[in-house]
Amino acid sequence: MFETLEEINQVVKNCKKCKLCNTRKNTVFGTGNPNNGIMFIGEGPGADEDSIGEPFVGKAGKLMNQAFLGLGIKREEVYITNIVKCRPPNNRNPEKEEAFACMDYLRNQVILIKPKIIVLLGNVALKNILGEEYGITKARGKWIEKKGILYMPTFHPAALLRNENLKIDFWNDLKEVKAKADIFLNSNDIYK
Ligand code: URA
Ligand code: SF4
Repeated sequence: MFETLEEINQVVKNCKKCKLCNTRKNTVFGTGNPNNGIMFIGEGPGADEDSIGEPFVGKAGKLMNQAFLGLGIKREEVYITNIVKCRPPNNRNPEKEEAFACMDYLRNQVILIKPKIIVLLGNVALKNILGEEYGITKARGKWIEKKGILYMPTFHPAALLRNENLKIDFWNDLKEVKAKADIFLNSNDIYK
């Protein structure tokens, strides 16, 4: 158990708990404001994220930024991270053992950030956090409460790049998140 996010980040930078450490350029720990009670969790770094060391800075991230902009959510005021902190080669899904090995870090991030709302971006985040029995097509758009945290599963933004038709659901899900955050989080900082 670590006391600060920076402490975890330093350990992650040198982590060799799974084989993704062999191929990464940079670890991708998380960015944004950890004090506003809201987290977005993706799958794992892609090529751009691996090069830069920050989550969602590639094509999928740009799409997410557009949605944030349209909805008036300030990206830098939410906290964004991933299930695995190192890039899976060729952007394959993280394997079970990799996600399991990395989960302690995410768990510790959640303990320190104490989010009221967690947005799960795609199937990998959904299944690793809420359980294998969930699937994104069915679960998306509906709040799930567990241990005092409200989870909103939605599509991964990379899925929207492959299928434009999913954009409207993604947008509506984030709109729902914003509305809930308006009620739940008395922070004016998240919004423009
Ligand atoms: N896809 C993810 O799941 N996470 C990122 O950080 C970038 C792309
Ligand atoms: Fe460590 Fe996670 Fe990177 Fe694997 S993915 S090496 S567990 S930081």
